This record gives sequence, structure tokens and C-alpha cells, in this order.
Amino acid sequence: MPPPYTSRWAIPARIASLLILPLLSVHASFEDPKLLPTPPMGFNNWARFECDLNETLFTETAQSMVSRGLLAAGYNRLNLDDCWMTHERTANGVLQWNATLFPHGIPWLADFAHKHGFHLGIYEDSGNATCGGYPGSYGHEQVDAETFASWGIDYLKLDGCNVYPENGRSMAEEYKRRYGQWHQILSAMADPLIFSESAPAYFSDNKTEWASVMDWIPFYGELARHSDDILVYVGEGSAWDSIMVNYHYQTLLVRYQQPGYYNDPDFLIPDHPGLTDAEKRSHFALWTSFGAPLIISAYIPALSDEEIQFLSNKDLIAVDQDPLAQQAALVSRDASFDVLTRSLANGDRLLTVLNTGSSSAKTSISVARLGLNEKCQYKARDLWTGKVSSIHDSVDITLDSHATAVYRITPGRGCTSVTPTGMIFNTVSGHCLTASSSGATFQTCNAADNQVWSVSGSGTKVTVSPLSNPAKCLAGKGSGTVLVDCKSGADTVWSHAITGHLQNANGDCLTESGGKGTLAACELMQSGQILGLPSGVHVVDGSSSDK
Ligand SMILES: *[C@@H]1O[C@H](CO)[C@@H](O)[C@H](O)[C@H]1NC(C)=O
Ligand SMILES: *[C@@H]1O[C@H](CO)[C@@H](O)[C@H](O)[C@H]1NC(C)=O
Ligand SMILES: *[C@@H]1O[C@H](CO)[C@@H](O)[C@H](O)[C@H]1NC(C)=O
Ligand SMILES: *[C@@H]1O[C@H](CO)[C@@H](O)[C@H](O)[C@H]1NC(C)=O
Repeated sequence: MPPPYTSRWAIPARIASLLILPLLSVHASFEDPKLLPTPPMGFNNWARFECDLNETLFTETAQSMVSRGLLAAGYNRLNLDDCWMTHERTANGVLQWNATLFPHGIPWLADFAHKHGFHLGIYEDSGNATCGGYPGSYGHEQVDAETFASWGIDYLKLDGCNVYPENGRSMAEEYKRRYGQWHQILSAMADPLIFSESAPAYFSDNKTEWASVMDWIPFYGELARHSDDILVYVGEGSAWDSIMVNYHYQTLLVRYQQPGYYNDPDFLIPDHPGLTDAEKRSHFALWTSFGAPLIISAYIPALSDEEIQFLSNKDLIAVDQDPLAQQAALVSRDASFDVLTRSLANGDRLLTVLNTGSSSAKTSISVARLGLNEKCQYKARDLWTGKVSSIHDSVDITLDSHATAVYRITPGRGCTSVTPTGMIFNTVSGHCLTASSSGATFQTCNAADNQVWSVSGSGTKVTVSPLSNPAKCLAGKGSGTVLVDCKSGADTVWSHAITGHLQNANGDCLTESGGKGTLAACELMQSGQILGLPSGVHVVDGSSSDK
């Protein structure tokens, strides 16, 4: 089993004294998972209505969510997005709602929400103006936080349009300073607002810089929009491609998520006219497998009964809301299938399989690939159909194009042990760590056994073995890597850091260089060193090793 999650980011004494103090001396989301112990669920107007929001839309949506069972299923947040306000603050600098759109006012709407069992959330921007051109919060942070709280709001999505760096700071430094300031303001409140950070989305074009922004994000807020906006209802282009873009970014961020902080791949769009039924269901299955926020942006009163039914799937929602809050990570990837797995709080293992190809296809996933024991018996529950089957060494799956299967795998007696297992890959190049006779290389992912790695051990000391050769472990040798007998000693021991580093006992980092797996000095923003590992691997805050 992976180590307990409360201590997942425990900081080894050796490096604790070197950590940058401001990062840890303040009240931080990962230190206080109580603020948001499981990912948020609810409604937001943006992808469906953009700026066409108003009081009626929210009250009708709330009533529909109650009568159609979505509130009972867990969707208990109503979140306003951009364009709710007027173009001017009051003379004393307070934001105002547009009284044509919200005739009874936002505090009335919050009260309405509370009476019906919902929370109310709001949108602002850390820059001079919102993306829609309304007043930004820059220079008004304290008064805006107090205003929102006084209106009965408990959730803030803070966007990052119109941010201009000051005093010679880089863009990334400017965002860090502003989101850090908001974090301090919000966490000093008697009832801190939940803080959704849009900062990383502004850096997703450059994956090395993006990772360096992600490194501080979980310390400041409860969730973060990390990549593009999901395609809006009237948007041009493919809604499925948009879902897949955000899906791919999400797969790069496994190491950051833990109870109290969630990676946010953006809204569910179940009434988007560009999606097939299979794609809508896949979208939901993938987001729940990730333990992602489930914020529906659709006209809920007009959703079909089938759409309401899959959005209310109890088994998938239980996966999404699982208290371990692990994010499913890639086990393997080839031209047809992405296979993902994670652990659940009761000791079950999740298996999620997406057919990314354009035709129906068949695959078989061995239990060893899920970090389970081939000598054991397991029960697999199909979370779409509820059908339970016994499995021995593998699960056979046939899937239509763009469909997703999700199984909850329960171990038999005496078989509860799990080893985090799956791809180790460069999150910048997308190449998979591949065992070879001469050590390890980085190659195009092809789902072969020499690209699936078991990560054994506990705490900060792990060993890494390919499924193709389980008695051999990855070790550093000079500036290269070799596969050696797992019992041969210190060279086989590694630790994984929040920066994406996989660091050898001698302090060097596994590095993709010219297609080879090499060892080099650990550096931030080194495109060969930002690695994705299976979920459940202990992660240390490695910021000190880079400073
Ligand atoms: C409120 O917004 C909805 C969705 O955009 C729109 O259909 C409706 O006409 C609006 N109602 C009012 C009273 O403005
Ligand atoms: C309020 O919103 C309406 C509809 O978008 C717009 O016509 C009006 O100008 C806005 N009022 C203010 C004060 O911004
Ligand atoms: C942004 O707002 C700040 C503070 O109000 C102001 O000093 C600055 O000139 C503004 N920058 C731009 C580009 O509008
Ligand atoms: C990414 O950003 C970093 C830091 O600003 C910069 O050094 C690097 O050249 C950028 N990479 C690319 C591919 O643009």
C-alpha cells in the first residue's frame, strides 16, 4: 500500500531546514485538507452561457438540480463566472453586481442557494481587469475578499487575465506573488474561501515553466485550472479534442494531487452539441477517475434523462470523491488505448481504459500492470453496468472508439498488497522510460512490459523495476543508467519530488538526454527531468534541492 496520505509530503529533516520559509509558514491548503476534503461538484455558467448569466438562470438551475437529483448526488455548488459585475467600483472601491442581471442582488442569491442546500461561488481576476473587461482585483484584494465573504460566498475562482509584471519580475514571479498574496488574505479569514487558482493555465504553452508554476500552486489553493478552457457551447473546433487536450495535461500532474488540493481539467459539458454519447460518458468517467472537480456547465433543466443518469452514477461519483484523493495515472499508452490506475481508500484498485482510437478495439490488462498479484483472486465491478466478475490474471475489454471503461477491483483475502505501477515518462517530451539491455532509454510509448514500472519501497526511498524484468532495478552508473540486481544497494534507491525529479541517492536526477536515460545535476525547468510516475508514490517537496 502507498504510505498514508497525511504524510505524503512529509519533508525529510535533511532538507527541511533549507526550505524557503514563506512557503510553509502560512496556512496552506495541503496542510488543511479540511477546507475541501474532496473535489468540488456543482454548476458554473461559463462554457454553456459565457457572459449570458443572470439570476433566473441560477435559480432555475438550482431548482432543476434539486428536482432532478443532482444535488442529492453531490453537486452542491453554484458558481458564477465572469461578467456578473458592473464596469465601475463604488466610490469607496467596492465591486457591484449588475442589478439588471441580478435584480435581488448577489447576497439574496447566496441566501437562495443556502436555503436550497447549495454553496455560492464567484469569479474574479488577479489582474487589472477580468478576461471580459470588468474590474480586476489588482490593488483591491483585501476589500474584494471581505466583500465576497459578506455576501455569503465561500468559493473564489481567481483568473489571470491582464496581469502586468512589476519591478522587473518575470511573468511567473508576478503570478506567484499575486496568488501568494491572495492565499495569505484568504487563509487569514475566519472562514477562508475555497481558492481556485487559474494561474497555471497561463503557462501551459511552455511545459517546463508550467511545471515550475505548478510547484507552488498546491501550497496556495484548493484547486487549479491548469490548461486551456474547455470548448464553449458555441465554440469552433472539436469538443472531443478540447476534452483530450485537458485530459493530457491532467495526466502530467499526478504528483501534485492529494486530499485538500485537486488538479482541475475544467468543466463537464454534457450538452455540448459536438459530442457523441460515448464521448460525454468518457468525459465523466475520466474526470471521476482523476478525482477531478465535477463542475457541470450545461443548461441543466434541458439535459436528457440519460445525461442526468450518467452524471448521477453513484459508483463513479464515489470514485471521484474517494477520500484518498489519488489521481489515476497512466499505466500504459499506445495508439489505441490509455490505461490508468489508482488506489481507493478501502484498498480497492481502479482500472480505467480509454479507447483513443477511431475504431472499436480489444485489449487485455494483466493484474500485474495494476500493481496487483497474479497469484491472487480479485472481483472486478464494471462501474457503468454494475456487473461483477471474478478475475485471475487479467481483465479483457472491448471498447468502441472514444469510449471509457472503469472497473473497481476488490482484492480477495490476503491479497491487499499494492505496488504503485505504471509508466514513468518525461512530461515535457511525452517519452516513456523504457528498459533495455544497456539500462534505460526514453522512447515513444508503446504499452510494452519494458515501459511499465513497479515502484517499490516506502517513504522517500523507492526502487524502480520494469515489468519485463522484475528482478532488476534501475540504478545510476556514472552519468548513465543500468539495470542491476535489486538487492545490489544504494545505487538502486531513488526519491520522487514535487518538481518531477527522480533523484538518485547520490543527489543526481534521472534525465532524458538524446533518447537515453542519463544522470545529471538536478535543476528546475530542465526539460529532461520533469517526470510523471504512478500514483501512490511518495512525493517530497524538493524545492530546496534546486536552490
Ligand atoms: C437569463 O439567462 C438565460 C440564459 O442565457 C436566458 O435564456 C434568459 O432569457 C435570461 N433571463 C433574463 C430574465 O434575463
Ligand atoms: C448589465 O447587463 C446588461 C445585459 O448584459 C447590460 O446591457 C447593462 O449595460 C449592464 N449594466 C451595467 C450597469 O453594467
Ligand atoms: C494596472 O493597475 C495598477 C494598479 O491600479 C496600475 O498602477 C497600472 O498602471 C495598471 N496597468 C495597466 C497596464 O493598466
Ligand atoms: C520556457 O520558459 C523558460 C523560462 O522562461 C525559458 O527559459 C525556455 O526557453 C522556454 N522554453 C521554450 C520551449 O520556449
